[in-house]
Amino acid sequence: MTGTTFAETVLTQYEFIFEMVMRMRRSLERKNILVTGGAGFIGSHLVDRLLREGAETVVIVDNFFVGSMRNLEEALSDRRVVLYREDAENYVELKSIFAQHQIDIVFNCATKALNYSFIDPSDAFATNVTVVLNLLELLRHHKFETLCHLSTSEVYGTAIYQPMDEKHPKNPTTSYAAGKASADLAIESYVKMFNVDAMIMRPFNNFGPRQNYEGPLAGIIPITVMKMLKGLAPEVHGDGTQSREFVYVLDTVDALIQLYRNLPSGNAVNISTNNELQISTLIDMIASKLNYNGEIIRLPARRADVQRHVACCDKLNTFIDFSMTQFDEALSETLEFYKIVSVEAA
Ligand SMILES: NC(=O)c1ccc[n+]([C@@H]2O[C@H](COP(=O)([O-])OP(=O)(O)OC[C@H]3O[C@@H](n4cnc5c(N)ncnc54)[C@H](O)[C@@H]3O)[C@@H](O)[C@H]2O)c1
Repeated sequence: MTGTTFAETVLTQYEFIFEMVMRMRRSLERKNILVTGGAGFIGSHLVDRLLREGAETVVIVDNFFVGSMRNLEEALSDRRVVLYREDAENYVELKSIFAQHQIDIVFNCATKALNYSFIDPSDAFATNVTVVLNLLELLRHHKFETLCHLSTSEVYGTAIYQPMDEKHPKNPTTSYAAGKASADLAIESYVKMFNVDAMIMRPFNNFGPRQNYEGPLAGIIPITVMKMLKGLAPEVHGDGTQSREFVYVLDTVDALIQLYRNLPSGNAVNISTNNELQISTLIDMIASKLNYNGEIIRLPARRADVQRHVACCDKLNTFIDFSMTQFDEALSETLEFYKIVSVEAA
């Protein structure tokens, strides 16, 4: 039989379109990139990296729920950065920002921390869903080309099997995670319905400089470090055997950039390491680096805390070359940052 079948023609056209999208996505140079939550922990490091990658403009939209100007000190000295102190849940405001900049790519880092879902579960859920829906509507209406959304390993809940790959069922145990899981589903549905270019990047626990250390929304590493630096006793919830994999924030940012270039639309991918650590071991490591020999306060386990989070990163490694910073080195760099912060705060 000669000639091309209908199925082959459709496939070739699909491959052509796919290749065109991936080719467009190869470079960040001269792109106008919007980062929601860009004054936060991961977002601000991403902003710095996008500038180094040669972005034309980096537009930051952050309502400063926890974001800080300190995180943007370096970025704001660059004339390519435009900062909007704005709520990405406000569709009208967001749309007007898009009208002022010809945005190509959006990295969605806006969220209200997991701990906040114990304070205002409804708002934590709403933020995670509303920002994504706003961005998907703008994407569907061709206001930009590519959505890179940051999901979270929390969508999986406590592991049913280990290590957790991307097919692991989503069993969120907090309204924060339920909002993130809903956002993931919304993205998948828009890709199927409207063939938009959107992907889900799913980091596990991050640590590093600039992570929020203040108040009830702070992460475990900054809280512990700041307490020890002040000579105060750190706290552990439960028996400390709960474990997490800790990814250095600059490694996550590197993965985000590489995934932007390589991950086909509609895909979700875990971003993690192979260094599972029990919380009590982590606290001992920090204590040893800071020469802290004082008390460690034991508190009851938090309801809905997941016990163990171990990622399967096979999919990540098929798309990118992920070389990670040694945990010990990354932890030392992180502690150096908080030593400066604690001197400034004194
Ligand atoms: N840090 C981690 O360990 C981790 C792990 C997995 C996934 N993630 C994901 O990575 C992304 C970034 O997390 P992060 O650790 O940098 O958080 P972060 O809290 O440091 O930063 C989030 C930023 O979003 C801003 N924000 C909140 N609501 C907003 C709104 N309605 N409009 C505009 N800005 C708003 C906050 O002010 C803050 O600056 C989130 O999507 C989070 O779910 C983080």
